[in-house]
Amino acid sequence: MSPLIAIDGPAGSGKSTIARAIAARLGLSHLDTGAMYRSVTLLVLEAGADPADADTAARLAKQMELSCNERVVLNGRDVTAEIRTPVVDAAVSTVAAHPGVRAELVARQRAWGASKGGGVVEGRDIGTVVFPKADLKIYLTADPQERARRRLAQLGASQAAGGDGELAAQLSRRDAFDSTRAASPLAVAPDAVVLDSTHRSVEDVVKEVLSRL
Ligand code: DC
Repeated sequence: MSPLIAIDGPAGSGKSTIARAIAARLGLSHLDTGAMYRSVTLLVLEAGADPADADTAARLAKQMELSCNERVVLNGRDVTAEIRTPVVDAAVSTVAAHPGVRAELVARQRAWGASKGGGVVEGRDIGTVVFPKADLKIYLTADPQERARRRLAQLGASQAAGGDGELAAQLSRRDAFDSTRAASPLAVAPDAVVLDSTHRSVEDVVKEVLSRL
């Protein structure tokens, strides 16, 4: 049986980079659960529905065919780039707060874990709700400016119209929303190892995670 490693934390904390590096190092599968919430959000927006419409979002989540690997394929279409646009960024916290959406995606995440027999799973509620018995729980943080800088580098200057000041404000709004919602808010599991990646290299953080395993 392979280990199940849960990596949670706010946007831009370095979760994806670290999760992918650890999965590659250990030969484990990797699941980005944020990509799943983003995929439902894209469907909601394309349907012309209001992101606050819980029933529509939950229905679209239940009906969708989704595979999240190297590429994210939603109902037969490669949406890897589309789920990371600023319009999806702006709506995803609202869609992810609906309990019906969460119930569907959490069930799919647990099924993924069972089918792989372990893996590296990143998100907001992985150590607290999805896999409370994970072999290792990491809660990754970084200071807000550093998180905005990373997000800007990810987006490229063309898409980040407001610059890093506006991005930092958007990220902190999204984090505040994700942390205070009623259903499975972003929270540190009591048995999680908290790592601040602000002044650390990827290699350094990866080494520490591996040493904790
Ligand atoms: O990790 P990310 O920025 O791609 O996540 C996008 C949004 O999805 C984030 O604002 C909150 C939500 N999310 C969640 O509620 N639970 C998860 N396990 C993963 C993401």
